[in-house]
Amino acid sequence: MDKTARITRLVLPGHTNRHGSLFGGTALSYMDEAAGIVSTRVARGPVVTAHIDSVDFKAPIWQSEAVVVKAELVDIGTSSMRIRVDTWGECLEEGTLRHCTTAEFVMVAIDQHGRPRPIPKVSRDDLAQDVD
Ligand SMILES: CC(C)(COP(=O)(O)OP(=O)(O)OC[C@H]1O[C@@H](n2cnc3c(N)ncnc32)[C@H](O)[C@@H]1OP(=O)(O)O)[C@@H](O)C(=O)NCCC(=O)NCCS
Repeated sequence: MDKTARITRLVLPGHTNRHGSLFGGTALSYMDEAAGIVSTRVARGPVVTAHIDSVDFKAPIWQSEAVVVKAELVDIGTSSMRIRVDTWGECLEEGTLRHCTTAEFVMVAIDQHGRPRPIPKVSRDDLAQDVD
């Protein structure tokens, strides 16, 4: 099972603040989407974002750059998953990447009533195999 997800988006004028860099809320929505992809795959069903830890916007991502978002599962609980998410600004013309944002998301698997649900055994076994 792939425990990572990567999203690449172009930073267009509608995505920027008045300084010409990617709006923080938009960056967070891309990060949430990437964390959602990884956690839904691991949980084999619906998830919600329960917590976002230590979001550090270390550098701006400029208009006309691409924003590259990578999410990776770092820990698994009973119903929760901890996902590290990083972003980079990519200058497409130069082929360079600058690390810009880091955060940890806690995603929780939910049942049809919106209550926490255990992560399925099949995903735990798959993860245990990766560690062996
Ligand atoms: C997330 C939610 C389902 C948790 O429900 P709850 O009844 O409080 O759940 P519990 O206290 O039993 O915790 C369930 C798990 O979530 C974890 N968790 C819940 N809130 C957390 C938080 N704020 N930070 C870190 N972990 C959290 C618990 O540690 C537990 O993990 P485990 O099962 O791996 O041991 C509930 O708070 C909720 O629906 N929140 C709204 C989610 C939402 O709308 N998100 C935005 C849009 S997706």
